[in-house]
Amino acid sequence: MKTLTITKPDDWHLHVRTGAILQTVMPHTARQFARAIIMPNLKPPVTSVAQALSYREEILQAVPGDLDFTPLMTLYLTGSTTVEEIKKAVGSEHIHAFKLYPAGATTNSDSGVADIKAIYPLLAAMERHDIPLLVHGEVTDEACDIFDRERAFVDTYLTDITRDFPGLRVVVEHVTTIEAVQFVQDAGANIAATITPQHLLFNRNAILAGGIRPHHYCLPIIKRESHRLALVKAATSGNPKFFLGTDSAPHLTSLKENACGCAGCYSAHAALELYSEAFERADALDKLEGFASFYGADFYRLPRNTGTVTLEKTTWTVPPVYGENGLSITPLKANEELCWQLK
Ligand code: DOR
Ligand code: ZN
Repeated sequence: MKTLTITKPDDWHLHVRTGAILQTVMPHTARQFARAIIMPNLKPPVTSVAQALSYREEILQAVPGDLDFTPLMTLYLTGSTTVEEIKKAVGSEHIHAFKLYPAGATTNSDSGVADIKAIYPLLAAMERHDIPLLVHGEVTDEACDIFDRERAFVDTYLTDITRDFPGLRVVVEHVTTIEAVQFVQDAGANIAATITPQHLLFNRNAILAGGIRPHHYCLPIIKRESHRLALVKAATSGNPKFFLGTDSAPHLTSLKENACGCAGCYSAHAALELYSEAFERADALDKLEGFASFYGADFYRLPRNTGTVTLEKTTWTVPPVYGENGLSITPLKANEELCWQLK
């Protein structure tokens, strides 16, 4: 049987929530990854070091005892974040970045930043203390077409931020467009990007053609085929600026299959399988290890992992839902076949 063995990977962009959802999803990620950057968009958001440390404990409690998994915590930037909190975060071995959500851009972003220029003193402090800024790169202007919101953010904000804070390490999270890929490629070595499995595997027809598929709806929304091809090219290029970040974002099935469904694709159940499929289709399986296991760790200045994981080329069917006691999360590719399986 064909197998693929790579250094144990990390997920550089992950939502795990709290409570019963956390209990359901954490074993999936811990099976696949050694570490993950944990997103802070809870209700209420994780804005302080103290909150992040207690959330970290809750996450560790949800990791099955036989698995070794390290959550890498982040703080949610708001208009009220202080330079003091930034210093505190830098002093904590468990906090690795700040996340910038433009207010209203996505799930639980209401407390996000309404005026990016107003947080310039915070960005200056982050640059000075050398802690990365993770950006949800979409404008929130309602007049802006949803398919153009990332491109507009690159033009309106990213160019300025990287010019005004040339030493700031920035991850443009979940890039979805040719323009964002180009921006990251052209920027300095301190600017990187994560890429999700759904943006590598699907174009927007997967959401809208032949019926509306709410489980393919995430933000930034999946774009047209030319953008997908640019993302595949970037991910499989061996350029260390592009690394794995699933943006696995569990929501209850009832809130996805809804007249106003939530944004987010749940992919943690089969993250490596999904990426393997995308890399294999591009005839670039040899580039998966760098993307999944090396470049993110290098960017965050953390040691690369030492163990390995092995995938087998074998067909299996993704279950329709995950969860117990009435909780239901519909995974990406529910009821569909995948061609790789983690051993
Ligand atoms: O689709 C998304 N879901 N995009 C985000 O930025 C947030 C995420 C979530 O938290 O559900
Ligand atoms: Zn996210």
